Amino acid sequence: MQTIQLNNGVKMPQLGFGVYQIPPEETSEAVYQAIKIGYRLIDTAAIYGNEKETGMGIKRALDEGLVTREELFVTSKLFILQAPEDKAAVTIEHSLKVMNLDYLDLYLIHQPYGDIYGAWRALVAAQKAGKVRAIGVSNFKAAKMIEFVRINDVKPQINQIEVNPWNQRIADQKWHDKYGVQIEAWAPFAEGRQDLFTNQILAEIGQQYGKTVGQVVLRWLMQRKIIALAKSTHPQRMAENLDIFDFALSQSDMAKIATLDKKESAFFDHDDPQQVEWFMQRMVDTEK
Ligand SMILES: NC(=O)c1ccc[n+]([C@@H]2O[C@H](COP(=O)([O-])OP(=O)(O)OC[C@H]3O[C@@H](n4cnc5c(N)ncnc54)[C@H](OP(=O)(O)O)[C@@H]3O)[C@@H](O)[C@H]2O)c1
Repeated sequence: MQTIQLNNGVKMPQLGFGVYQIPPEETSEAVYQAIKIGYRLIDTAAIYGNEKETGMGIKRALDEGLVTREELFVTSKLFILQAPEDKAAVTIEHSLKVMNLDYLDLYLIHQPYGDIYGAWRALVAAQKAGKVRAIGVSNFKAAKMIEFVRINDVKPQINQIEVNPWNQRIADQKWHDKYGVQIEAWAPFAEGRQDLFTNQILAEIGQQYGKTVGQVVLRWLMQRKIIALAKSTHPQRMAENLDIFDFALSQSDMAKIATLDKKESAFFDHDDPQQVEWFMQRMVDTEK
């Protein structure tokens, strides 16, 4: 698996498997299958409700000798509720405990709300204590990322944000490069929104190489030096999404994909007041 070196020297697989929206009862099997097929980067979050089952799938793969722990790169994330410093520390311990792991490879502040500075101090402490190899943020816009880097002594290794053909983040990537923060793409397929999987431009590019739309999209992210997470509960698609290292998109292909950029989220804007209300409600619900 191709890796990318983060700003603290840690090497991270460039392509990974995400478990968002996989029901807990299916997660262990999906994670196990993903590792068996060749994924080494596994991405979950406290709020996904399947951290425990993600850990179970990892344990099964380790017990069967499919991989060693050192070969895997496991990520989880801190939700807003847990952002205050003391709660953040407890939550990191909780993630490790439920996932049955001694350390995580990456831990992220999941959303740009609440006491993100207190949460960051807790993540830095966990990293110093060897509980987490890399730390970062998620869903930070470039402006917030810059402020965060300038205020804190330790800068994030990663910002996990939405990147897909409808929302390419070209300008944002330049800012992240300037500050040495690696972009990791969530929803590379935009979860199939706006008919991504049948898009004619992407399909025609793929036909030249005998590749599918999904493969073209992931390859495009690899060539842009972006880390990508893909999710599927179907082993055949898991394998398809991993089979992207035997071809390269040309400059002309990349230019055609650039024309698809709508420069806006296929989901929502993190600064939309209605969306912020939704997140805050979610936080209150989770606290019950
Ligand atoms: N930090 C954040 O706020 C955040 C937000 C969203 C996601 N994420 C992370 O990013 C990961 C990926 O994002 P995502 O799950 O939202 O969306 P995604 O990977 O863009 O899309 C997943 C969807 O695409 C389908 N699919 C996958 N491969 C396919 C293929 N080769 N052909 C046709 N359909 C295919 C899947 O269906 P099947 O499962 O039925 O195959 C699923 O419906 C998540 O799992 C999560 O780990 C993070």
